[in-house]
Amino acid sequence: MAGEEKFALVETYGCQQNVNDSQKYEGILMEMGYTLTTDREKADFIMFNTCAVRENAEKKVFGNIGALKHLKAKKPDMVIAIAGCMSQQEDVSKRLKSKYPHVDMILGTRAMATFPALLEKVLTEEKCRVIERQEIDYICENVPTNYDGGCKAFVSIMYGCNNFCTYCIVPYVRGRERSRSMDAVLSECRLLAEKGVKEITLLGQNVNSYGKDMGMTEGFATLLSEVDKIEGIERIRFMSSHPKDISHKVLEVMSESRHICHQLHLPLQSGSDKLLREMNRVYNRERYLSIVNKAKALMPDLAITTDIIVGFPTETEADFEDTISMLKEVKYDSIFSFIYSRREGTPAAKMDFVSTEEEIKARFDRLLEVQNAISYELNKKCEGEIQEVLVEGISKEDGVLTSRNYANKIVNFPGDESLVGKIVKVKITRAQTWILLGELL
Ligand code: 5AD
Ligand code: SF4
Repeated sequence: MAGEEKFALVETYGCQQNVNDSQKYEGILMEMGYTLTTDREKADFIMFNTCAVRENAEKKVFGNIGALKHLKAKKPDMVIAIAGCMSQQEDVSKRLKSKYPHVDMILGTRAMATFPALLEKVLTEEKCRVIERQEIDYICENVPTNYDGGCKAFVSIMYGCNNFCTYCIVPYVRGRERSRSMDAVLSECRLLAEKGVKEITLLGQNVNSYGKDMGMTEGFATLLSEVDKIEGIERIRFMSSHPKDISHKVLEVMSESRHICHQLHLPLQSGSDKLLREMNRVYNRERYLSIVNKAKALMPDLAITTDIIVGFPTETEADFEDTISMLKEVKYDSIFSFIYSRREGTPAAKMDFVSTEEEIKARFDRLLEVQNAISYELNKKCEGEIQEVLVEGISKEDGVLTSRNYANKIVNFPGDESLVGKIVKVKITRAQTWILLGELL
């Protein structure tokens, strides 16, 4: 690619793991000589790194792929790649192949290692189109990664999922659990600390089973305590954490650590024992609550967040009431809520709906209403408190900085730009439902 400058664009859909994968694709592209851009018109290479968890995300991607057609017509040398969870699915790959001839590369979830060679092939062999959805299960290490230079970073510690929750497509598109070696994870964390990163979020579909595929017991607890020792890393978070696998040891390490935030994302999905069984979640209300109580006993200041699915096919009004009662009992700081989306190939896709779309929509609105009141009530308790926050940047409002406290809640306060990237103390002066307002001490 000697001569003129070439531009690449990677657009990410879906979860943090995809964000992290995209940073690796960007790192590889930069090493291949590309300059990154966010402008589709300017790009010589465009990748959509896609998500298959819900139908809405898929529809959006198909719309956006369609929109690239006229760009490709104007600029035939441009390379278009569709990567990630959507293209890993056989039916999507076939649809891309037949209906979207302007797409040059169809890459699945495990194509990172082969990507540079495949791109080289598309660039050099005339009219070549590649489709790579192989099921390789080794992990590619030392991938150049485009950390954005900020004070926070994601580190993937494992890939795939073994849980087969009946509604979820992830185990089919991301394959079985594969853990990175502890050495590889710790070296990456040390490198990030050297680059000035202050906060690391360890990522996996189920971090609690980290190391099990390598024969370790309590692998995640061990990893957490090792990351905690790294000089310069001031804050450690992790997600997601399947309630069936979280160990007492992990909670203990959290409570005794220097830097692990007392914040736990513990996906509940539903508060109904019947639904939890039909979702194949392997825990019930009682077991979930016992984990929450144990965790709160060890960490009284613990902030808890969760994922909730509304409208699972067999969900009745009574099942939904059980979810509401869990919200009130646990008192989550915030929740991520989703309307159930039918995913072809999963067991739940064969179940009949017992509720109408209107009933499900009304439940979803009610869920948000109940949660908003709880979030506000918990935020209100913070008024007057002095909290340490990591300053992330400048807010939309003039002269106001935006930061996060240990619970990962947004705290906005007036301050100077020079504080970005630093941990400072603020006094919380006012609570809102979604954010806290404060003043610098
Ligand atoms: N429909 C709606 N939400 C889903 N999730 C996973 N699969 C589906 C689906 N088919 C949600 C779960 C999970 C989060 C990442 O996405 O709540 O925890
Ligand atoms: Fe999907 Fe369940 Fe695996 Fe999470 S644990 S990725 S919800 S199958």
